[in-house]
Order: sequence, then structure tokens, then C-alpha cells
Amino acid sequence: MELGKTILIYYSFEGNTHFVATEIASRLGCDMLRIEPAQEIKSHGFMKYVWGGRQAFMKKTPPLKEYDLDTDAYDTFIVGSPVWAWTYSPPLRTFFSQNDIEGKNVVVFCCHEGGMGNTLKEMEMAMKWNKFLAEADFKAPLKNREQTIAKIEKLVSELK
Ligand SMILES: Cc1cc2nc3c(=O)[nH]c(=O)nc-3n(C[C@H](O)[C@H](O)[C@H](O)COP(=O)(O)O)c2cc1C
Repeated sequence: MELGKTILIYYSFEGNTHFVATEIASRLGCDMLRIEPAQEIKSHGFMKYVWGGRQAFMKKTPPLKEYDLDTDAYDTFIVGSPVWAWTYSPPLRTFFSQNDIEGKNVVVFCCHEGGMGNTLKEMEMAMKWNKFLAEADFKAPLKNREQTIAKIEKLVSELK
């Protein structure tokens, strides 16, 4: 497959999506952009699910820290998110609202704990004017590193 110039864009709250993102990007040798909310949710323990879940459920678009991205410079976008309340994370919702990505190749992935809902389909809907090459989900990547790496290698081999 000819991916052309590729960037992997992701958000990660607790490191799982970051782990998957870096393993994919290092194998493809592509650029990376980690988006971050201007204010990260501060809660830990159970309350993080309450505050973060509420934000996701309400389809909030929290302001992001400034980032530098020229979407015209890329042919392929790989976009990754943790699953929050059965959908993609609020920072990615902000990102989609700020960037019209059209006519590109797109790969989506998500990280979850077993309840991914329609997250991948919803990510595809948010970038619907594109060509979808592949999608993948990863269950608890930092706890299942071996299976995760195996799945990443399969995904990357499909893309190469
Ligand atoms: C606010 C919040 C909501 C979550 N909602 C879900 C969910 O609906 N389904 C699920 O399987 N996991 C859910 N999780 C777990 C994360 O998706 C999972 O731990 C993921 O690997 C985290 O990625 P990260 O480490 O990159 O942030 C939630 C986590 C948080 C913090």
C-alpha cells in the first residue's frame, strides 16, 4: 500500500494510546502529533470516569493546547483515541471540529477496557470524506503488551 506522507495523531490520558501510537509510528517511520487539552481532567480513581465520562457523553469539545499541523502536507492520517463512555475522547472531538480532513487515507484505532461501543465507526463518521484503509482496537494495551505488539505488527503489515 502506498501511504505517502503519514502522520499519527492521538490523545492519551493514561499512556495506553501513547504506547500503541509510538509502536505504530516507529514501525512506519511516520510523524506523530499528541494532542492535549489545555486543562487535563484532574480526577483519579473512580471520579475520573465520572468527569471524563460526562465530558465524552455530553460531546464536549475542550480547548486544546496549541499544536502545529499542516493537514495539506499529509496523505495519510492515523488517528488514535482512548474510549471514554463508549465513544472517542473529547480532545479528539475538538480536533475533528478544528480540522477538515478530506480526500486523505485514514486509519483509526482505539484503546479500551472491553467496552468500545461504536467508537471506531464514530471516528470514521467524524472523518467521513476520506478513504479508510484499516481500523484496529486494543484492549488494555499496557497490561497486554505481547498481544498488543502482535496486533500492531499485523496492522502495520497490512499498511505496508
Ligand atoms: C473517563 C474515562 C471513561 C472510560 N470509558 C470507557 C468505556 O466506555 N469503555 C471502555 O472499555 N473503557 C473505558 N475507559 C478505559 C479506557 O478506554 C482505557 O483504559 C484506555 O486504554 C485508556 O487509554 P489511555 O491510557 O491512552 O488514556 C474509560 C477511561 C476513562 C478515563
